Amino acid sequence: MDSIQVTPTTASRINGVDFKNLGFGTEFSDHMLVCDYKNGEWGAPEIIPYQAISLMPSSKIFHYGQSIFEGMKAYKDNDNKTWLFRPEENFERFNISAKRLAIPELPKEVFIEGLKRLLRVDDQWIPTEKGSSLYIRPIIFATGEGFHASPADAYKFIICTAPSGAYFAGKVKVLIEQKYSRSANGGVGYAKAGGNYAGQFYPTQLAIDKGYNQVIWTDDNTHEYIEEAGSMNIFIRINDTLITGPTSDRILDGITRKSILEIAKDEGINVEVRKFTVSEVVEASKNGCLKEMFGAGTAAVISPIAGFGFKGVDYDLPEIENPMALKLKRRITEIQTNKVKDKFGWTVSV
Ligand code: COI
Repeated sequence: MDSIQVTPTTASRINGVDFKNLGFGTEFSDHMLVCDYKNGEWGAPEIIPYQAISLMPSSKIFHYGQSIFEGMKAYKDNDNKTWLFRPEENFERFNISAKRLAIPELPKEVFIEGLKRLLRVDDQWIPTEKGSSLYIRPIIFATGEGFHASPADAYKFIICTAPSGAYFAGKVKVLIEQKYSRSANGGVGYAKAGGNYAGQFYPTQLAIDKGYNQVIWTDDNTHEYIEEAGSMNIFIRINDTLITGPTSDRILDGITRKSILEIAKDEGINVEVRKFTVSEVVEASKNGCLKEMFGAGTAAVISPIAGFGFKGVDYDLPEIENPMALKLKRRITEIQTNKVKDKFGWTVSV
């Protein structure tokens, strides 16, 4: 889609960025892609300097939270070529989220070709330091106005990007949630709706106040089944078996999650996709069978868990040699950054 109109910035901010000490999602690249939906159709995408947007207070995003997002990354390889990881999966999930939030689905070309063009325009912003990447945020939100509680008639699609380092600094300590829920059957838990994340902030803050970093979400009905870890999917390792829950109405179909499952099988690791309970995890911890727990998501990739709290008791995970988490993280990162041959056909050159 080389016909996309590009208005380059006249005041690049890139020299003010310390690429050797990047935080996560705190510095924003010079350009963004924008595309508006009105009169029943998506218009032509444009690339413009990263800038503030102006909205009426009556825009429905402010009242009813009609908004969705995706999380993706672009990587540089040793030859300075740019790679995306399974971008079509993000596109498909974006439209699954759009449908659930009654947002008009976006044409694939606008998402995929628009993103590639944006990455070429902001090529210099893609970090090359080990452990860094360009974090990509596609979003759609309701710009259409009105207080009537019904879908808006206008939307804005934006892709903005942020050169980023690690999401978490080290291992995290988590609290198994027994009161609040992230999602419910028939709800929006499987969608990347902004409000799903806002709803996590308060319970997470309560956990932080108690000395934990994140919440482990359990099912809304019994709080007995373990479902997600903060904003990530969760894996546990019991002896030499890697276990994660099946995706559902309540669990996000994570792209890192499903890639890890395939890589683990390829590594000869015994994998189980099945529901698992808090009692099973506590029991396994007590009898020494619980070897690892980790979260998996685009932003954090794989985030090892140091220990968990449940009903006032803290359980520590053992320090083990050659953890699966590290092995799997290394392998997925090597694929993403084109350091090893991608036998799965996941990487896409920009
Ligand atoms: C991601 O992992 O990219 C996500 O979208 C989760 C986000 C809240 C950091």
